[in-house]
Amino acid sequence: MPLAGPNGALPLPSFMEKRLFSTTPQVRSLNINNINPHVKTAKYAVRGELAIKSEQYKSQIASGKGGDLPFDSVIAANIGNPQQLDQKPLTFFRQVTSLLENPALLECQEVLEKEAGYQSDVFDRARTLLKDVKSVGAYSQSQGAPGIRQSVADFIQRRDGYPADKESIYLCAGASSGVNALMNVICASPNTGVLVPIPQYPLYTATLALLNAKCVPYYLNEENNWGTDLGGIRSALKKAQGEGIDVRAVVVINPGNPTGGSLPEQDINGILQMAAEEKLVVLADEVYQTNVFEGKFHSFKKGLRDLQKSAENKDGKFDDLELASLHSISKGMVGECGHRGGYYEMVGFDPEVVAQIYKFVSIMLCPPVIGQCLVETMVNPPREGSPSYPLYRQEYDGIFSSLRSRAQALYTAFQSMEGVSCQSPAGSMYLFPTIRLPAKAVAKAKEMGKGGDEYYCLRLLDRTGICIVPGSGFGQREGTLHFRTTFLAPGTEWVGRITEFHREFMEEFR
Ligand SMILES: Cc1ncc(COP(=O)(O)O)c(C=O)c1O
Repeated sequence: MPLAGPNGALPLPSFMEKRLFSTTPQVRSLNINNINPHVKTAKYAVRGELAIKSEQYKSQIASGKGGDLPFDSVIAANIGNPQQLDQKPLTFFRQVTSLLENPALLECQEVLEKEAGYQSDVFDRARTLLKDVKSVGAYSQSQGAPGIRQSVADFIQRRDGYPADKESIYLCAGASSGVNALMNVICASPNTGVLVPIPQYPLYTATLALLNAKCVPYYLNEENNWGTDLGGIRSALKKAQGEGIDVRAVVVINPGNPTGGSLPEQDINGILQMAAEEKLVVLADEVYQTNVFEGKFHSFKKGLRDLQKSAENKDGKFDDLELASLHSISKGMVGECGHRGGYYEMVGFDPEVVAQIYKFVSIMLCPPVIGQCLVETMVNPPREGSPSYPLYRQEYDGIFSSLRSRAQALYTAFQSMEGVSCQSPAGSMYLFPTIRLPAKAVAKAKEMGKGGDEYYCLRLLDRTGICIVPGSGFGQREGTLHFRTTFLAPGTEWVGRITEFHREFMEEFR
């Protein structure tokens, strides 16, 4: 039988073509042309080229070879990684986990209380958690330990004023893993579409690319504090449907990453209304729910329950709205992102779909158990009157106010910079200013095969050691340029480095 190739009757998978027709002998099974093409398509700028270069600068300085660099430290303002930027872990959380990791310490209560500042409620909590998980070295239920899920349900009830069911709660290895599970189940074919805000945290576009599904972008309204524009969402939806895309879900990130916007109640209601009318699953990414500086956080779950009991629901149109809301230990004043913990609550889903989600997460066995325990401490922190409360309160408030003042300092600096405009910091850990660069700078960037924002961020890194992320990594309106920076880095000296660099840069290309 003749070999079938590109022109033959039987097209072969491309990896076989390589094997059969390559003139160089194959030494390995895998090469860049025969791996999953969707992995190659996926983009994740927050850990992209600039981040890699900044790591190289960091090692150069650490190994004493940074003498020629125009800076003596690298500032990782590219990623919301609080404890890498000197945010201290909350004492109660780590005291509890220390006992969980080494239960022999439970026998040393007196010494630890006298000598190491442990309080009695730390021991109580560790014993309760150990009763639930038995050992942090053991697998838990796939969905997460039942006692911890109950704590999450109680937290949601306290937060929203509506009951929550522990059976609807799935613990996960960070919100990323929850998004991955949900998207895997939602994305049925290359024709499945998901509405994603632009700009967005690239987890969403990257996951859709990995699943070979369609991202349906909708633009946030920069002029209106990065709020949602329902008209814009509806027209993005109609356009996609017109192209034959089967749009199944809408992602909302609130408070926003990279925008820092915090949605008012009416925006949340509007999205829920639209989702009910259009039969869309709502994926509410609420990992920054405690990082709110302006106004108040409004959860999608509460929004949904309010609508369900309102007169607007007389025909029952909200009864079966599918909502998955996610939270995480990575952000806020907890900042335990290295421990990988989070949860999602699913309401309104068909039980047969839930069973498939259960099966999907079971394939991964269970989320990290120590991460689950940190979820428990996050949702059930020391209460007023308990021995650990005063220190917890002091640490929590200290982190909150320091984040707020850093955000404000950066915002003030941006306001003073030529060609930069920025929304005031409302929430999350980021600012996402617009930059208007001189035409000569944009031309120079083009000459180097880069976008203006990429070139600006690269030059900033090379000159100051500060790593930020170009707006193109999150998506931005055609013809606009932005960058995203966290405001987690301590001190204000680095803010001065940015303003100084910006002045020089604008002068150079004037
Ligand atoms: C909006 C948003 N969602 C999810 C995540 C992922 O968080 P986790 O560490 O819980 O996976 C991040 C991380 O930066 C984020 O910004």
